[in-house]
Amino acid sequence: MTERYPVCLYDIGEEQLAKARETVKNNLEKLEEEGLSRGSSTAAEALARITSTTSLQDALAGAIYAQESTMESVDFKKRIFKDMDAAAAPSTILASSTSTIPASVFTEGLQNRFRCLVVHPVNPPLYLTLTELGPAPWTDASVVDRAYEIMESIGQAPIRLKKEVLGFAVNRLQYALLAESWRLVKDGVLSVEDVDKVMSEGLGPRYAFYGPFGVIHLNAAGVRDYCTRYAGGIRRVLDDAGETPTFDEEEVIGELETSLQRSLPVERMGEHSAERAQKLAELAKLKRKLKKD
Ligand SMILES: NC(=O)c1ccc[n+]([C@@H]2O[C@H](COP(=O)([O-])OP(=O)(O)OC[C@H]3O[C@@H](n4cnc5c(N)ncnc54)[C@H](O)[C@@H]3O)[C@@H](O)[C@H]2O)c1
Repeated sequence: MTERYPVCLYDIGEEQLAKARETVKNNLEKLEEEGLSRGSSTAAEALARITSTTSLQDALAGAIYAQESTMESVDFKKRIFKDMDAAAAPSTILASSTSTIPASVFTEGLQNRFRCLVVHPVNPPLYLTLTELGPAPWTDASVVDRAYEIMESIGQAPIRLKKEVLGFAVNRLQYALLAESWRLVKDGVLSVEDVDKVMSEGLGPRYAFYGPFGVIHLNAAGVRDYCTRYAGGIRRVLDDAGETPTFDEEEVIGELETSLQRSLPVERMGEHSAERAQKLAELAKLKRKLKKD
């Protein structure tokens, strides 16, 4: 059941707020057109529930939940969280969209640090619903539970990190894959195009519906059978993998750039991002249809 919440946008200037309202309007209309709206409200009804202000106090007055999405900088997050902690009632959950900074780094000295956590959506957030919930060691468990409920109630797909780790879940998994992809190119095993093809034509579609654990379970007579049969093989392959790349090896960067510049030239990045969003929208529609069937 999707909830209807009144929302107040806060930014430092009217210009940014007008731009944000325009973006939200366009996105709500786009989702409506595509049949991907999260609740039963029309785009116009949802938009009518959104107000905006340049006063942090006004934005936080009576709020049950605040989502901070300012610049990705430790100093900045420290400052804005200090201000939010002073302005919001202790019952307001204070969440940060940060993609990389653990909650403990910018909430340690706060008076009400128990109500702060990371709630990280994934890019592009319009079509990917995954949201990582990353508490600091001092975040109250009930705050994480409530943030989880709120995310579910707006149609997001939350996951809960049980303890604070660098990179949260998405980047830990993404970087493990990136490291092996990098080594395969560096060691002359695969071309850049073929690494990407392994994902787009093989692992990617499989993972669109089942994660690595679901996949191994289905690839044998269950996960126990899989581990009994393949544990030794997995260890041998991983032992063979080599060191963590430095990701600044010029010869690999050059090879990546030559290949990607041919298929996705930087000069047409806007066009390619829009095309990717459109393809993800189609996948979101399919996933929604399969859930209903
Ligand atoms: N862009 C994404 O798709 C995405 C996805 C997941 C997480 N994030 C995270 O969201 C955060 C914001 O990313 P972004 O790409 O939207 O950044 P951005 O630079 O586009 O937007 C930052 C906004 O903060 C506003 N701002 C500046 N000073 C402020 C202040 N004192 N008080 C309130 N607002 C202020 C700016 O006016 C601007 O509107 C980052 O922490 C980023 O890691 C972004």
